[in-house]
Amino acid sequence: MKLTALFSALLVGTAWALPAASPAQASRNLAFDSPIINYPHLAVKAPVSRRSDPAGNASTAQFLHGIASGDPLADAVILWTKVTSNDSQVDVLYEVSMDEYFTDNVAADFVSTNADVDFTVKVDITGLQPATTYYYRFTVGSTTSAVGRTHTIPQATDFLASYKLAVFSCSNMPAGYFNAYGSIAKRNDIDLVLHLGDYIYEYPNAEYGDGTALGRIPAPNVQLNTLSDYQTRHAQYKQDVDLMAAHEKFPFVTIWDDHEFEDDSWINGSEGDDKNNLPGQPWAPRKLAAMTAYFQYMPIRAALIDGVGKIYRNFPIGNLMDLTMLDTRMNGRDQTDVKNPFTIAKSSRTIMGSDQEAWFNQQLSASQARGAKWRIIGNQVVFSPMRVLFNTVPLTFDSWDDYPANRQRVLDYIKNNGITNTVILTGDIHSSMVFDVLEDPYNIFDFNPITQSGSALVEFVGPSVTSDGMGAKDMILMRATQPHLRWGNGVLHGYYILTVATDKVTAEYHLLDTIQSRTYVDSIAGTFVTALNSAKITSKVVA
Ligand SMILES: *[C@@H]1O[C@H](CO)[C@@H](O)[C@H](O)[C@H]1NC(C)=O
Ligand SMILES: *[C@@H]1O[C@H](CO)[C@@H](O)[C@H](O)[C@H]1NC(C)=O
Ligand SMILES: *[C@@H]1O[C@H](CO)[C@@H](O)[C@H](O)[C@H]1NC(C)=O
Ligand SMILES: [Fe+2]
Repeated sequence: MKLTALFSALLVGTAWALPAASPAQASRNLAFDSPIINYPHLAVKAPVSRRSDPAGNASTAQFLHGIASGDPLADAVILWTKVTSNDSQVDVLYEVSMDEYFTDNVAADFVSTNADVDFTVKVDITGLQPATTYYYRFTVGSTTSAVGRTHTIPQATDFLASYKLAVFSCSNMPAGYFNAYGSIAKRNDIDLVLHLGDYIYEYPNAEYGDGTALGRIPAPNVQLNTLSDYQTRHAQYKQDVDLMAAHEKFPFVTIWDDHEFEDDSWINGSEGDDKNNLPGQPWAPRKLAAMTAYFQYMPIRAALIDGVGKIYRNFPIGNLMDLTMLDTRMNGRDQTDVKNPFTIAKSSRTIMGSDQEAWFNQQLSASQARGAKWRIIGNQVVFSPMRVLFNTVPLTFDSWDDYPANRQRVLDYIKNNGITNTVILTGDIHSSMVFDVLEDPYNIFDFNPITQSGSALVEFVGPSVTSDGMGAKDMILMRATQPHLRWGNGVLHGYYILTVATDKVTAEYHLLDTIQSRTYVDSIAGTFVTALNSAKITSKVVA
């Protein structure tokens, strides 16, 4: 996926002085392709870089929204920033270096940005070395951004002994401080940060969390609807100091869930669609606005799979693992929250869309065939069944429980094609939960799932960064009624560290004592191991 190679004559790999001032060498600001390069009619026209005035408005430019990197490949990584300026167009210099003092640059060029993309800058740096740490920064005139650090992944054929991910979801600004992000920013041993969705929330203040006391009132203070609304909200989140610190330190791989759009959304609508949309703001333009802002503001590579806003994608990480990121929210998902047992039971029902389902099956098989030890799946909503009232009624109507036929097809594919060592990572429900995923999880005639034919894979559901969880009482009920649930905490916020090694995958749940103060304690609440070829939790230590 060497996107920029098509557009730029970047000479990476050799030392750079400042780049030659030739418009032909202008690198491409991918923010102008938003939401996707394959659909140029949806994007805005990129300005021609003004090399005669490369400083832009040097006296007023600032970098107030930090910097970020994401979607690392073995030879490429996305870099992101946003400029604050009163100039109509700003030419931004990016530099990528082997060292943090920028004495050994491997890439440097100007890209232009303007108000059409809210002054965001996103470049795909190609021609990099695998499994290598790089430093990057942006400059306008005499103003230079913070220095970011990023890391490419190993080549698929390289031996890799272990890989460490920090897994986040559900960061709602008014609900509390993003201490979870700040906590990992103090570490040096994370290879990649995953965010499984709800990176922003779409509500006005006090509709879901009141940010008044902490000075975290959502901007703009409305239910998001227009492109400008979504851009302003993303820009506000990008100014959070803890989030900025995490982005500076580690590359992110992100997928959206519903709140990047609206609560309980699906491909053609959302639960609150009719209730919350303003007159004259139907779902399609609102969804496009949300998607466009997401691609402008997130360090994500627009997927080159044909179609608007496809974000499902795979990262082959050495011979150790494939990291396969799904979109169970916006890619062909049938209507959610229908609460009609006959609709829910339909065999054609899909949470993935048929294109993604075919791709996912093919991806699982390709991963198995290439001998990758683990298949690590990044996914939005809970995959395991969570049935209440003697296992007859789904606990939520917005998870895979609402799409049982699709889940069964995934499990059947895994079973029938000898797919092993699969681990699914999940956010959405704001509660820590560790599941053995049973092979026949949604048989309403089987009242005792533990007696079924065994576990096909394991699922690690993460705590939220700040959003309210299911609560202590509900988790006690869950523990009592869901025998495949090996552990849970529905109260505390945090993240988990997933260490993938050749013989086991370990999830270490980090829960924080508070998100209402910037002073907090981060402790390990539980450590769960799934051994190679076990397809279940093989050991657990709970604090
Ligand atoms: C820089 O910004 C100032 C203040 O907004 C403006 O007056 C001036 O024209 C700008 N300069 C350029 C070169 O655009
Ligand atoms: C832009 O101009 C306004 C009004 O002149 C000023 O208050 C603001 O500080 C300027 N912003 C920057 C980034 O210079
Ligand atoms: C979404 O809407 C489009 C356009 O009306 C339609 O073709 C498609 O089938 C719909 N998808 C679902 C899952 O309802
Ligand atoms: Fe959430």
